[in-house]
Amino acid sequence: MAKQNIYDNETFFEGYRKIRENEVNANKLFEIPALLSLMPDLRGRKVLDLGCGFGEHCKYFMEAGADHVTGIDISEKMLAVAKKENAHPKITYVHMPMEDIARLNGKFDVAVSSLAFHYVEDFSGVVKNIYQLLGKGGVLVFSQENPLCTCHSGGDRWTRDENGEKVYLNLADYGIEGERECVWFVDHVIKYHRTFATIVNTLIDAGFVIEKMIEPLPDADMLEAYPEYRDLLHKPDFLLIRAKKFDVCGY
Ligand SMILES: C[S@@+](CC[C@H](N)C(=O)[O-])C[C@H]1O[C@@H](n2cnc3c(N)ncnc32)[C@H](O)[C@@H]1O
Repeated sequence: MAKQNIYDNETFFEGYRKIRENEVNANKLFEIPALLSLMPDLRGRKVLDLGCGFGEHCKYFMEAGADHVTGIDISEKMLAVAKKENAHPKITYVHMPMEDIARLNGKFDVAVSSLAFHYVEDFSGVVKNIYQLLGKGGVLVFSQENPLCTCHSGGDRWTRDENGEKVYLNLADYGIEGERECVWFVDHVIKYHRTFATIVNTLIDAGFVIEKMIEPLPDADMLEAYPEYRDLLHKPDFLLIRAKKFDVCGY
């Protein structure tokens, strides 16, 4: 199956780096707090971060008491930043597409992936391999673009009123899964759309129990401080799930 490495494209990489460096962005306000709220106690745990990017989460997991963190990513450019800016004696950064994680040695207590699964065509294969790599009671926590975003199928995303304010999201082809091409810093960025049911059932079929899901939304205080994020009330940007490896002898 196809594996895209768009983060090694110079123009894409620079554009992405700039938005992540902004003082305010949707990651900092919504996605990261939700992701961290789903993490189990990391003290003494072995953690695998799939699509670790700049390694910021890997460093955080070590500071939260993890015993060891393995961060893997398909992009050499992202890993170069991780090794420079978020190095730690107990973090190992590995240049590897997550589709190949069956090659990793050892077991992990926690697998985490932040905003990378929507780049993966073989989601089911990756989830099955994660299940195998987790020890008894292991936990998977991930975020991805919300399926209401990944199903975008061309044209304007929003219907607006006469003042240009967003009234509602234009939605089409939610039920058609698979590859979607979009423009984000560069042309031809490939993401994969899957319905909520497919995402949840893929986890269940692999043997996971779903423990919690979050679609982060702004509260009243947040809307007052950042009114531009009112859009999220029409359409959440992110979907986050915590799932646990099912254990017949007492989940
Ligand atoms: C949006 S960035 C998120 C980076 C990091 N997890 C974070 O939240 O800051 C997505 C990352 O996933 C990586 N990625 C995309 N497809 C991948 C694949 N098939 N295997 C491993 N990493 C992948 C990209 O190279 C990029 O570093």
